[in-house]
Amino acid sequence: MYGGNDEEVRCESGAVPPLSPGGAPEHRVRSSPSQELWPPTPRSGARTPSEDYCHALLRPCALPPARTVVTPRLTGVGMGPGDPELVTVKAVRVLREAAVVVVPVLDSGETGRAEATVLHHVAGAAAKVERVVFALNEREDRARREAAWDAAGARVAELLREHGSVAFATIGDPNVYSTFTYLAQTLAPLVPGLVVETVPGITAMQDLAARSGTVLAEGTEPLTLVPVTAGAEVLRDALAGPGTVVAYKFGRLAEQVAAALRDTGRDSSAVWGSALGLPDEQIRPAGHPLTGPLPYLSTLIAPATRTRRGGKL
Ligand SMILES: C[S@@+](CC[C@H](N)C(=O)[O-])C[C@H]1O[C@@H](n2cnc3c(N)ncnc32)[C@H](O)[C@@H]1O
Repeated sequence: MYGGNDEEVRCESGAVPPLSPGGAPEHRVRSSPSQELWPPTPRSGARTPSEDYCHALLRPCALPPARTVVTPRLTGVGMGPGDPELVTVKAVRVLREAAVVVVPVLDSGETGRAEATVLHHVAGAAAKVERVVFALNEREDRARREAAWDAAGARVAELLREHGSVAFATIGDPNVYSTFTYLAQTLAPLVPGLVVETVPGITAMQDLAARSGTVLAEGTEPLTLVPVTAGAEVLRDALAGPGTVVAYKFGRLAEQVAAALRDTGRDSSAVWGSALGLPDEQIRPAGHPLTGPLPYLSTLIAPATRTRRGGKL
């Protein structure tokens, strides 16, 4: 609260009112000795303290704007398996609104698949796409892979400091075997208060199911997704069960997958597809022999056995 003549309190082009003893600007003013302090108390839905201060003086006022605290936000956006039409409306909106879109690449000279889909939907996206190198196929050299994640994390942390929010475009769904999760884990200690969110994407298994006319699950059937890099035994165990089994990451291991299918009697019903939605796509219907090796981008579905409508309900 002020003493003396309130008219002495200036409120022009950024003049700041005197501080209260606690250090915060005191906004309640007395315009005549008989008048009550105005406004009496803060009201909900009322003017902000700065507006109150100016209003009380009944003159134009330009107080400095309150400092806005930006919450750093990282959004993983699912770009589908390859066909640019297989992305959600929300994904396209988020990419269009983003100030910067990070895409993972093997080395900075190529256009990755996630990037191709971004460019398909976002006019002028090339200007805001930032390629970040991830050693995507690096399974043998752990140190090199970790170094690539650290470097990618450091770069995205810089982008977050610069832009406040970053969208990361990733193939399929960001929560299914995606580099996005490693990036988010790398960034958590680097960017205090980071909010991580995702926009779901269509997975390769969903695309293959649609393209091959294969039902993924009915009634009480389990649906198991196996990365064959976990070992052929893991796949074999799943195939021995009652549900549908989907295999990912088996290009180099196609012969082992073929053997597991034969041994469990699933070879005649399994379907597989490579490079779905891309120019060199192949889709092989049930009964087509699986011989390897296949491209890294290969997916297999061994559907559950069904004998009658709703039999597993
Ligand atoms: C690292 S995982 C990425 C999965 C992806 N996030 C998803 O939601 O489908 C890579 C594996 O996904 C499968 N995949 C992804 N895109 C594919 C495509 N276009 N065609 C066939 N398989 C694909 C393959 O099994 C590949 O080995």
